[in-house]
Amino acid sequence: MSLATNSITTKRVLFTGGSGKAGKHAVAYLLDQGHRVMNVDLVALNRPGVDNLIADITDSGQVFNAMSSYAGFDELEPGNGVPQFDAVVHFAAVPRILINPDNETFRVNTIGTYNVIEAAVKLGIKKIIIASSETTYGVCFSDGKTNPRSLPLEEDYDVDPMDSYGLSKVVNEVTARSFQRRSGFDIYALRIGNVIEPHEYADLFPAYFENPEVRRRNVFCYIDARDLGQIVHRCLEKDGLGFQIFNAGNNDNSATIPSKDLAHQYFPDVPLSRELDTHEALYSNRKIRDVLGFEEQHNWRKYVSTTH
Ligand SMILES: NC(=O)c1ccc[n+]([C@@H]2O[C@H](COP(=O)([O-])OP(=O)(O)OC[C@H]3O[C@@H](n4cnc5c(N)ncnc54)[C@H](O)[C@@H]3O)[C@@H](O)[C@H]2O)c1
Repeated sequence: MSLATNSITTKRVLFTGGSGKAGKHAVAYLLDQGHRVMNVDLVALNRPGVDNLIADITDSGQVFNAMSSYAGFDELEPGNGVPQFDAVVHFAAVPRILINPDNETFRVNTIGTYNVIEAAVKLGIKKIIIASSETTYGVCFSDGKTNPRSLPLEEDYDVDPMDSYGLSKVVNEVTARSFQRRSGFDIYALRIGNVIEPHEYADLFPAYFENPEVRRRNVFCYIDARDLGQIVHRCLEKDGLGFQIFNAGNNDNSATIPSKDLAHQYFPDVPLSRELDTHEALYSNRKIRDVLGFEEQHNWRKYVSTTH
């Protein structure tokens, strides 16, 4: 569904990590809304309409250069020099533990994010959106089965991960806050839930319902990759919020069991801080609904049949 209206202006967006699992859907969504997107990644995204620049975000020189670059040959034509990017969306990262050694995950994610935010701020790009993670809450990659201090998980939680990836995302949120305070620009961090691509509903969800325990480390959250695109788009449209953290998740749990029972069964010692709607996500997305006007388009029930 296109959310474009006449009042919405299209933007020139530099998107890092657009070739990845989440990025390629978010980029597609932004293109559909009429934005121009230049993807900065180690590998190109092969999609009509997207401009690619191969660059390494851990190299500050490359990041500054990419951010002050033409997006495509057509931009040579007016003869007015290089246009300014309106926004930076930063998804490039090592996306979890156990891909690279822990110190490398931490290095790429923290230095890469520092470089991207610093360049954007110093070049005067006033809207910056970065990918943080559900793992900041400290349940996902914890040693052993651990509890959050309360449920649902909301953005004011005192995050305390014990792994290098989750830690890198907490550091990135602090980096973002620091640069926001210095610049006054809008820097929004999305604590992205477990990303689900369209084909994954059929592949994965039946097993989730068969054995809900496998979703405990995600606190049963999921975010449809296309709905994540909508969240990014809404962040581009919403100005003046300063530094913000938003949980990026869908409305419901990736489970068939009602929320209160789910919490009782899988987090029996964890207090509920408020009443929950019947299937309301334990990974709360209330803030993106209230503040950004997020309207879920891809609830799992559209794609998975269940007898529950
Ligand atoms: N997939 C999830 O469930 C999930 C959940 C929470 C947060 N996130 C975050 O969302 C973002 C996107 O995740 P994803 O699942 O699409 O990951 P992905 O690995 O599929 O994509 C990451 C992209 O970043 C690029 N990249 C990595 N290092 C780079 C570097 N040094 N310079 C330039 N580009 C580089 C990769 O080439 C890749 O295209 C990441 O920041 C990740 O931490 C993902």
